Amino acid sequence: MSMKASAVAPANIAFIKYWGKKDESLRLPENGSISINLNNLQTTTTVEFLPSLQKDSIIINGQQNLSEIERVIKHLDLIRKIAKLDYKAKVVSVNNFPSSVGLSSSSSGFASLTLAATAASGLKLSEKKLSIIARQGSGSACRSIPNGFVEWRKGNSSGTSYARSIYSQDYWDIVDVVTIVSVKKKIISSTQGQTLAKTSPFFKTRLLNIEDKIAKIKKLIAVKNFSDFGKLIEEEALELHAVMLTSSPPLIYWLPETLKIMRLVEDWRRQGLEVFFTINTGQDIHLIIENKNLDRLIKQLKKVKEVKIIINHPAKGARLTDNHLF
Ligand code: DP6
Repeated sequence: MSMKASAVAPANIAFIKYWGKKDESLRLPENGSISINLNNLQTTTTVEFLPSLQKDSIIINGQQNLSEIERVIKHLDLIRKIAKLDYKAKVVSVNNFPSSVGLSSSSSGFASLTLAATAASGLKLSEKKLSIIARQGSGSACRSIPNGFVEWRKGNSSGTSYARSIYSQDYWDIVDVVTIVSVKKKIISSTQGQTLAKTSPFFKTRLLNIEDKIAKIKKLIAVKNFSDFGKLIEEEALELHAVMLTSSPPLIYWLPETLKIMRLVEDWRRQGLEVFFTINTGQDIHLIIENKNLDRLIKQLKKVKEVKIIINHPAKGARLTDNHLF
């Protein structure tokens, strides 16, 4: 019997962000979050468990980068434990976007790894269980398992902290234009950065208001009120960065080009083009716009030198594929 499986999973962009953990090893978040999956930022992963292997063999985007590999092995160990399996695995993983653009891909990476490795080990798991396992590889990966518009409820234990779809990918035609301002790798990873959240004096205040914010954004999505939705996600991104900037030591992820695009977004809005931004860890900026205005935005972006863009529509979550990578 073959113990090989492949899966494709999208990266996702959070409108309400996950930042700060109650439990670092289980990756239990301090708060819930809301996101959409992105159709043009996808990772494919093939996993095969083989009795003949002495150790796990892992190739990510053609490379055997040590720091990431340890985390992947830890995740394989978790899945081996659940499947009661002790074979080592061959893992090959590739992104459909150039790795040189500096976009991190832990959400799509761990979601596709989770689905491929559990299937290869013979497990047939519910979406909820897959999301719980993916979460332990990278928190944001739990949101890349269900389809479309997704909510990760924080829960109060490993079994209650998982993501589910609130609307399918076809529900609302909004677009995420990922604007890459620099291919520089960020110095502080999300995992490291998150440990500092508590050191910001603003973090407590953020947590006091976050439930209301989540309720508010869900209402705005329900009525498809793009203007208020956009305003709220921009405020949320700035609040996240206010926490980052006031952590000790401070986390300054923006580059001058990041700020330049933020200012341009204001200008474009003044000119009647309804576009909003959100930012994660790193310098790149996600521009959120209704599909009907996409061409106008692209025209504007073409005038801005030194940016590369990747246009994303809401997408399905993780799924199995027969297109094995080896
Ligand atoms: C700012 O999911 O990458 O993008 O659980 O340590 O792997 P780990 O963190 P990760 O953090 C994502 C942080 C964020 C916000 C978000 O995606 O919600």
